[in-house]
Amino acid sequence: MEIPGLYPTWYEPLLGSGWVLGIIAVIHVLASHTSVGAALVSTWLATVAVRQNRPELLDYVRRYGVFLLVFSYVLGSITGPGIWFSATVASPRGLSALIHSYVWWWATEWVFFLIEVIGIYLLVYLAGRVDSRSYLQVAWIFGVASWATMLIIVGILSFMLWPGQESWFTEGGSLAGFFGPYTVAQILTRTCFMVMAAALAGNLIASGIEEPRFRREMTRTLARVGMTAAILGSLFFQWGLATLPESAQLLLKTRLPGYFVPTLWAILAGIVAYFAALLAQPDWLKPSLAAAMMVALLIFGIWPEERARESMRKPFVAGQFVYANQIIARDVPALGVRSELQLLAEQGILKSHPFIPDPLRRVNPGNQLEAGQALALVYCSNCHGLGETGPRPMTRMLAGNRNADEIERLIKGALVTGNMINMPRIPLTDEEARALALFLAGLPLWQAVGP
Ligand code: HEC
Repeated sequence: MEIPGLYPTWYEPLLGSGWVLGIIAVIHVLASHTSVGAALVSTWLATVAVRQNRPELLDYVRRYGVFLLVFSYVLGSITGPGIWFSATVASPRGLSALIHSYVWWWATEWVFFLIEVIGIYLLVYLAGRVDSRSYLQVAWIFGVASWATMLIIVGILSFMLWPGQESWFTEGGSLAGFFGPYTVAQILTRTCFMVMAAALAGNLIASGIEEPRFRREMTRTLARVGMTAAILGSLFFQWGLATLPESAQLLLKTRLPGYFVPTLWAILAGIVAYFAALLAQPDWLKPSLAAAMMVALLIFGIWPEERARESMRKPFVAGQFVYANQIIARDVPALGVRSELQLLAEQGILKSHPFIPDPLRRVNPGNQLEAGQALALVYCSNCHGLGETGPRPMTRMLAGNRNADEIERLIKGALVTGNMINMPRIPLTDEEARALALFLAGLPLWQAVGP
């Protein structure tokens, strides 16, 4: 019998593995976006400081650098590996798909990241200690390396959503997967939003400047930069939405909560208004206000944006061939990968999954509930919380339906045939469908079922 190379499932009862990964990722996005944006802004400020011979501006660059070191680089380098660890257990095959296609790109990104980390230390340490030409060289190398890390990551993220060219599936080639119709829009959008985040963080530092005239000047300068970046970013974002593949458009329209797009625009409008207010009244800036704006960006801006990106690629988790529940759903000759749907429909996953406990391989009246639980864990729990919490909780999906026959009909109708736009086709044998339906019908009591 053929055994697909599936891994154990990580189930986190309260949040679901996806959200654990999501929370880590959102913090990482804030830290990394701030750091890349701040690298660009500091490079520019350092250039101005050196050209116009302004030691107080150089001192600002140094203090901004210290803040970045502590905030972005520490948070970023804790959450970065956090993403790797949690993604490895939450979605081993999704990550594997990315690594198999992009390992050298990642290696390159790490080289740039290393330059970036050394660069930020040098920027802080060398301020006022070396001649201005050398300082500027360091600043520019730092800025360019930092932006380069983003370029590479955006390409990999684009691939994750959708391989750039259809030819990638048959012929491979990392560039064909990397560059899609929306890559450029994404790079521009992200660059702008990074600068916007950097201006928010920069204001936090500016609020601590004691000399009032310089504080006002910095607050205004950053407000101008941040406002321009927010407005340009919104335009590029709009353009980016138009370049998305049709299926992603459909998902955006039909599946995201109604408040989603308005919330994103509202936070952008709020940020523009905040910068405009600072332009008019720089004395309003207080550390608490600046910090609150960063938290607001995290919760109302980045979280919904990341969730949308996550939703858009549903039911896939990577490259339009690995489902979120780790099943491979499409032949990818370029990687020598074959769809497992047919095999699972014939053999059933209980028999095929290497980590299903042996007593559950065959369904019988004594183990139906346990088998159903195993099926729900393996097939559904990546996208649905099996309790009442987490992402798309199953009890809510079933809308209180406790009738196993009806649930079985639903499963066999929609799931097995794959007639749903954002749920994968789930191949179940008859006995598996029955076991799963029985388990789902008793869901709130599921903790009572054995291991
Ligand atoms: C790739 C992720 C994914 C997997 C795996 C998945 N689902 Fe879903 N499911 C979704 C999404 C997304 C929705 C739509 C949710 C919404 O509209 O808020 C959904 C909706 C549903 C609904 C509601 C149907 C409707 O018409 O609104 C049910 C029932 C459901 N899923 C059951 C299951 C079961 C049972 C499994 C496992 C056998 C499963 N799902 C696996 C993503 C998934």
